[in-house]
Amino acid sequence: MADVGAKKDYLVTEKLVKRFDESLAVDEVDLSISQGEIFALLGSSGCGKSTLLRMLAGFETPTSGRILLGGQDVAKLAPYERPFNMMFQSYALFPHLDIWENIAFGLKREGLPRNDIKQRVGEMLDLVQLTPYARRKPHQLSGGQQQRVALARSLAKKPKVLLLDEPLGALDKKLREQTQFELVNIIEKVGVTCVMVTHDQEEAMTMAGRIAVMSKGRVLQVGSPEEVYEHPANRFVADFIGNVNLFDGKLSIDEPDRCAVTTAIGEIHVGHGVSGALHMPVSIAVRPEKIEISKERPNLAHNLFAGKVKEIAYFGSYNSFIVIASDGTRVKITEANTSRHDLSNITWEDDVYFWWSDVAGIVLRD
Ligand SMILES: Nc1ncnc2c1ncn2[C@@H]1O[C@H](COP(=O)(O)OP(=O)(O)OP(=O)(O)O)[C@@H](O)[C@H]1O
Ligand SMILES: [Mg+2]
Repeated sequence: MADVGAKKDYLVTEKLVKRFDESLAVDEVDLSISQGEIFALLGSSGCGKSTLLRMLAGFETPTSGRILLGGQDVAKLAPYERPFNMMFQSYALFPHLDIWENIAFGLKREGLPRNDIKQRVGEMLDLVQLTPYARRKPHQLSGGQQQRVALARSLAKKPKVLLLDEPLGALDKKLREQTQFELVNIIEKVGVTCVMVTHDQEEAMTMAGRIAVMSKGRVLQVGSPEEVYEHPANRFVADFIGNVNLFDGKLSIDEPDRCAVTTAIGEIHVGHGVSGALHMPVSIAVRPEKIEISKERPNLAHNLFAGKVKEIAYFGSYNSFIVIASDGTRVKITEANTSRHDLSNITWEDDVYFWWSDVAGIVLRD
C-alpha cells in the first residue's frame, strides 16, 4: 500500500528510446511511477513492453533518454547494482532444489550471513503462505504455488522496485484469476513499487492502480483502469481495452456541453463538447453494455436506431447481440442477465430498436 510520505515521482523515465538496428522498439517513453504503486505496461505482442522493462532492469542499454529512481540516474549502474529485481515470464525455479533453497539462492550468492538468510527465507515463506511446503521440490507444487515461490524469490533481496514480465503467463485462465488477487495482496503487503508487463487487459485492470497502454513502442495513454476504459484517449485505446463500437463521422454541432456527429448510422448526440472545427472527422466510441435493445420503440428524440438481429451469443452472465442497422452498420450490444427468469425475448432476425444516452458516447479525434 502506498504509505504516507511515499514519493510521487519515484521511478521516472524521460524520453526513453531503444532502437534495434532499423526498428524502434521503445519510442520516447515518459513515465512517472509513484512509490508503492502497481503499474502495468499493457500492449499487444511486439509493442516494446519487455524491452522497456529490460531497460529499467539494466539488461538493455537505452539508445537515449534517462531512467531516474528517487531522483538518481540509474544509467551507469549494472543490473546487480540496481535496487530492482526482475521476475521473468518463464520464472524457472531450480527443479533440483527445494522451495526453501530456491528462495535462499540469491541471498546465499550475495553472501548474506546464515542466520539472516534463515530469517529472510522464513519471512518470505510466510508472506506467500507456503511455509508447510518449504521442503518440497517445485514439481510437487501447483502452478499457482510455484508462481508464488518465484515471487518470494524475487522479493527475498528486498528490492525497491519489482519488475514482473507476464507474471501469470504460465498459468491457465482460472488459476490466473485467483493468482492475480494473491499477487496484488502480497505486493501491497510488502509495499514494493511494481512495474508489470502484460498483454492481457483484464489482468492489467485487475492488478494495477494505473496502466500505460502501449502501441509500436509508444505510450498512448496512462491512467487508472476506469480512466482508460471510460475515457480512452484515442481509437486505439478504446478498441484495445474492452469491446467498443466505433462510429466514424463528421462533427455537425459543437457546443460547450454537447455535440453531434453525422455518421452512416445517423446523427449521434454526445453530452460533451469537443472544441473542434465543424465538419472535422471524428469517431464516436460507445461500449456495447451502454446500448439498450428492445422490440418496442421507446419514445426518444435521438440516439435511437433501428436494425435487425444477426447474431446472439449467451455468455451466462450476459447476452451479446450483433445488430445490423438500416444502413448496414454492425453494432455490438450486450445485456446483463440479472435474473434467471429474465431471458431476453429477442431472437435472430428480429427487428429491434437500440439506443443509448448522451453520456454513453465519447468523441475521439484520432
Ligand atoms: N535483441 C533484439 N534485437 C533486435 N530486435 C529486438 C530485440 N529485442 C526485441 N526486439 C524487437 O523490438 C520490438 C519489441 O519487442 P519486445 O520484446 O519489447 O515486445 P513485447 O511488447 O514484450 O512483446 P511480447 O508481448 O510478445 O512479449 C519487437 O519488434 C522485437 O522484434
Ligand atoms: Mg515481452
